[in-house]
Amino acid sequence: MASMAEQPEQPRLGLRMSELDRVFGGGLSVGSVTLLGGEPGIGKSTLLLQVAAALASERAVIYASGEESAAQIAARARRLGLDCGQLQLINESALEHILALVAERKAALLIIDSIQTMQLGALDTGAGAPAQLRECTAALVRAAKSTGCAIIIVGHVTKDGSIAGPKLLEHLVDTVLYFDSDAGSRYRMLRATKNRFGPVNELGFFAMGDTGLKEVRNPSAIFLSRGAQPAPGSVVMVARDGGRPLLIEVQALVDRTRNLTPRRVAQGVDANRLSMLLAVLSRHAGVALADYDVFVNIVGGVQIAETATDLPLLLALASSLRDQSLDATMVAFGEVGLTGEVRPVAHGEERLRELRKQGYRSVILPQQNAPRDAPAGLRMLPVSSMAEALAQAFQSAD
Ligand code: TYD
Ligand code: MG
Repeated sequence: MASMAEQPEQPRLGLRMSELDRVFGGGLSVGSVTLLGGEPGIGKSTLLLQVAAALASERAVIYASGEESAAQIAARARRLGLDCGQLQLINESALEHILALVAERKAALLIIDSIQTMQLGALDTGAGAPAQLRECTAALVRAAKSTGCAIIIVGHVTKDGSIAGPKLLEHLVDTVLYFDSDAGSRYRMLRATKNRFGPVNELGFFAMGDTGLKEVRNPSAIFLSRGAQPAPGSVVMVARDGGRPLLIEVQALVDRTRNLTPRRVAQGVDANRLSMLLAVLSRHAGVALADYDVFVNIVGGVQIAETATDLPLLLALASSLRDQSLDATMVAFGEVGLTGEVRPVAHGEERLRELRKQGYRSVILPQQNAPRDAPAGLRMLPVSSMAEALAQAFQSAD
């Protein structure tokens, strides 16, 4: 059997938005099946209508909605200024009819909006029941593989799990994308959590506006509140997520507890990692927070799994405890070990280039990440221990 690496490269369809092509791993693979998950109202239908229109000028594309009438979707397409070419909009929830149309039209792309509204007549359960979700998805996968039609399936997700959802279906499809946003923000992040035809965890950024979703080509600073005054407990870090550097504000608040057990709340970072960092602070930097409630938050609703958040998190905690803000033109990144040592992280130089580009002037970074030739105009503050990092941070804040 041929290994993955020996398989011929799938032909790709370009989607006219580089952020989208990026998340798919270089365009949409012919005959692939993608699941697009996200909360109701996040913009899944809007995004897919744009995708459908992008391909419909050259190929047969079918947009099957079980949620909105064809007239409603057409009206939205007009409002978005989309040229719908050979886009066929249908309001249909009988999957057999949709698949017959795909074969008849030799469609290159089929959008299913949403899987929760689709039904196979042979099953006697209603739309949205787990058996329907699974069987409909399996039928779509068979159709994609036999006809070469690429299929994108919408799956609604709710945080409280009140809709039976995409999780059930992830193992059936080639690619899984999740569409997400910070509450109330117009920015949207699209992340590939599974991709048989490209890298996982790739992130694409979009902004929702009056004319639909626009890609954000230089997203590295969209999570920063520009012009904000320096505040205790706030530190900017340069993370690397989704294959690109991102400047992100890390916030911490420590407050004397009124409870027997102090609270530890972590938003956007792993709670176990936070516990470990609190122990490191206590043992190796003499900062004991046992009598304090601790809250940490990654601004913008991003989840950051990389260890480079350790150092900025610790600095944010110390800054909140001292009620002393750090220099607002300073950035930090680095991993912290159990002995209080600051360890290097991958992609150091890429991070430095990005924070320089965004106008930051100094950076606290792991000694081993300090390059021999620092980018011009960027002051390096290399540290090898937590104690050194605290000394640097609060010295340059004075
Ligand atoms: P929609 O794509 O219908 O979300 P989903 O399919 O994920 O449920 O988008 C819903 C929201 O997007 C709706 O509240 C209106 C808003 N919106 C815009 O702000 N601009 C637009 O151009 C469009 C089409 C929608
Ligand atoms: Mg929708």
